[in-house]
Amino acid sequence: KGNIIVGQSGGPTAVINSSLAGVYKTAKDRGVTKVYGMLNGIQGFLEERYIDLSDYIKNDLDIELLKRTPSAFLGACRYKLPDIHKDKELYEKIFEILNKLDIECFVYIGGNDSMDTIKKLSDYAIVTGQTQRFIGVPKTIDNDLALTDHTPGYGSAAKYIGTATKEVIRDSMGLVYNKGLVTVIEVMGRNAGWLTGATALAKGEDCEGPDFIYLPEVIFDLDNFLEKVGKQLAKKKSVIAAVSEGIKIADGRYVCELSANVEYVDAFGHKQLTGAANYLANRLSEKFGCKTRTVELSTLQRSAAHLSSLVDINEAFQVGGAAVKAADEGDTGKMVVIDRVSDDP
Ligand code: F6P
Repeated sequence: KGNIIVGQSGGPTAVINSSLAGVYKTAKDRGVTKVYGMLNGIQGFLEERYIDLSDYIKNDLDIELLKRTPSAFLGACRYKLPDIHKDKELYEKIFEILNKLDIECFVYIGGNDSMDTIKKLSDYAIVTGQTQRFIGVPKTIDNDLALTDHTPGYGSAAKYIGTATKEVIRDSMGLVYNKGLVTVIEVMGRNAGWLTGATALAKGEDCEGPDFIYLPEVIFDLDNFLEKVGKQLAKKKSVIAAVSEGIKIADGRYVCELSANVEYVDAFGHKQLTGAANYLANRLSEKFGCKTRTVELSTLQRSAAHLSSLVDINEAFQVGGAAVKAADEGDTGKMVVIDRVSDDP
């Protein structure tokens, strides 16, 4: 039986290692001799940086610990594999390393770019008559992968975001200012609004939830935003707006993505970049003279250990194991999905 190599790619999550643990456990249960882990994904693999996971995982307790440890144990990368016709030598090199390590199954835990890698490698294997199998394991806090009901990593991030939002709201209610306070919470997710939507989880018996939620799927109207917040400020002294990092403004001529990319020149002539929350906070204080505060949840929402969801941990573990089973059954060029109806990934 051939060996397995597994890699982690893209933004870390609280449960990315749960999938790694699932791959390892299932592979070992099925008698695979060696389970290699590529360091920093395909980027490290190309530099022949990999480890034998058995040097680190000695028993079931190690598997359990890995399962519950957030952020990428193997390290990840943001590397987009070029198209086959653009760099044939690169593909030849990849398959040379795979053959050298006697790899039968290549598992990649990641998001959109990682699934693209899986597809390209499996296409190349088929075209060149090689037998390795390539399987993708979904992972992203953004919840933006097609076909799967949801993505492992999203649940934990959503739980963190809901809890953090509630804490921010509680604090901001505790002290009011004469001209009011607007707190703008910026949430990750690129072009998908699932994470920003999760700020609504703050709502409950003890918390009203955010006053406004702005998602990236809807073109952002600055005048309308200012008008609405202004009206709310007149009613209550503390207003909370949750905005996605990827909201886009349309001014008739162009659509400008706000996510940390709006450039401005400061008083000293230095170019600065600002994200959505800072940009909006500046517009609000300009217009209303109110106090503003920004909360960028940033990387906290990705790998916060204490709020990992147990369901998320277990699902991530299961999809890891399912990847090994799928390859064993002859699948290649596919991603494991979570099917909500059967609950059996
Ligand atoms: O894709 C996950 C994600 O956390 C996005 O929500 C975010 O836009 C992006 O990664 C940030 O990536 P990086 O940490 O590489 O800047």
